[in-house]
Amino acid sequence: KIALEKPETLSSPSLQNLTQDDLKKIAALKAVEFVESGMIIGLGTGSTACHAVARIAELLQQGKLSNVVGIPTSKKTHAQAVQVGIPLSDIEHHPIVDLAIDGADEVDTYMNLVKGRGGSLLREKMIEGACKKFIVIVDESKMVEYLGASGAMPVEVVPFCWKYTADRLQALFQAAGCVAKLKVLGNGDPFVTDNANYIVDLHFEKGIGDLNAASDLILRLPGVVEHGMFLDMATTVIIAGSRGITIKNK
Ligand code: 5RP
Repeated sequence: KIALEKPETLSSPSLQNLTQDDLKKIAALKAVEFVESGMIIGLGTGSTACHAVARIAELLQQGKLSNVVGIPTSKKTHAQAVQVGIPLSDIEHHPIVDLAIDGADEVDTYMNLVKGRGGSLLREKMIEGACKKFIVIVDESKMVEYLGASGAMPVEVVPFCWKYTADRLQALFQAAGCVAKLKVLGNGDPFVTDNANYIVDLHFEKGIGDLNAASDLILRLPGVVEHGMFLDMATTVIIAGSRGITIKNK
């Protein structure tokens, strides 16, 4: 486990009485202050990251940033970035990404994350794993004592015999009271990821426990593509809360 620098808190009485989306936007705008002209930027996915994408586009339009290339982490973010005019590429052409900015579903004390409740974890992990710096932007509701505390940890699986894979995932964590459920749309059809896979959500009654051990066990299972634990990947977490913005660095 890694010792973290003392977090810096910028207190602001004006952050009281804001909505969760306002807080997400505040965290996103703070993160975009770290974007510099000429950077290759990983563009995250979700309702927090989309504020960062919009802000980068705004700064490009105003001429306050130039020569920025975005690497979108999902088809949805790709569409948003095209719409707002951010030049795009991918990690085949830019295997080293200067900075990625993305939201998270959970952030623990050690800056480990659960991501992918929006279903984009595979591309997010590939791109954010290629980054020199990875800034995670969250409102304070995402901070947890341990991963798995506030909801599911998603696992991307191949559709072939997905139920067999789901059953084996659940069995791996029986002692932690794990229940595996296929992620479905409102009409009951399976949610299909950008890479044409399914998502099995793992619900842990008692938390995930040893994260590295859980990661190894999951990734060894045939049928699993990737999981939503992002361990030791975030370099900075920006948390917007009612008492101000907190910035944690590794
Ligand atoms: C998508 C993600 C998102 O970053 C995560 O779900 C947080 O979403 P939001 O910013 O909408 O709360 O991992 O796969």
